[in-house]
Amino acid sequence: MDTHQFVTVERDGAVATVTIQRPDKLNALDARVVAELTAAFGALAASADPVRAAILTGAGKAFVAGADIAAMASLSPLEAKRFADAGHALGALIEGVSFPVIAAVNGFALGGGCELALACDFIYAAEGAKLGQPEVNLGIVPGFGGTQRLMRRVGAARARELIYTGDIITAEQALAMGLVNAVYPAAELLARARDTALKIASRGPLAVAAAKRVMLRGEAIDLPAACELEAQAFAALFGTEDQRAGMKAFVEKTKATFTGK
Ligand code: COA
Repeated sequence: MDTHQFVTVERDGAVATVTIQRPDKLNALDARVVAELTAAFGALAASADPVRAAILTGAGKAFVAGADIAAMASLSPLEAKRFADAGHALGALIEGVSFPVIAAVNGFALGGGCELALACDFIYAAEGAKLGQPEVNLGIVPGFGGTQRLMRRVGAARARELIYTGDIITAEQALAMGLVNAVYPAAELLARARDTALKIASRGPLAVAAAKRVMLRGEAIDLPAACELEAQAFAALFGTEDQRAGMKAFVEKTKATFTGK
């Protein structure tokens, strides 16, 4: 287990669990926590033996209750820009790593916490979890990607309503609007996230990585160009051992073992 001061990374085979460990402050994100998360995901991405899926969760009763308000209170505009840039770099890193990242939202995911979860590929939440972008209550806007990723995840109208009101919603409300994929009893949340991570890890890793890359890049460009990216990724996979192993196993009615080559 890799341990930083505020983040732990446990690796179990092809699946890593990254846990934010600042429970006394409900895992609020200050510059140190953001830097440690960035280092943790950077190390996972650079590993010679890469993971095939990761879970991001929080210790204690919160996922992340937001950016650290006490630390933000006296920031100058320049310092605030640096802090937002660091948050955006973390979001882009999580979004861009070659393996899927599942947010296991175990409690409050507010402000920067909701934004961090939105940078993950999808979200599972515990019953009782609360999500929202309450920044307008503090006289600011979301600064770690919330205005953009929330809109893309749940649609512009719902994102606008949540961000303009600052309303905090339940896990069930988040499920109904597509912000989270599933809601589980708190005691089961990590096990369910792990089941999905293991299922993903058993699939062709180059294929999963290509799907993640194409869906992410495709969101930012027009449909014909995005479909061209897909066709190129589809073609490139026919040069891999995984494609041969996967199709051979189907034809022979056996189970493929994927090597990521
Ligand atoms: N930044 C800094 N510290 C935070 C924090 C944040 N976003 N959220 C919680 N904390 C700290 C509290 O100040 C408190 O610290 P203390 O024990 O030293 O006083 C500790 O975490 C526990 O929080 P507390 O408020 O006592 O817990 P609660 O269960 O009564 O309330 C919340 C939980 C989430 C409703 C409440 O903490 C809250 O409103 N937090 C801020 C949410 C927010 O606006 N986030 C967006 C920021 S951009």
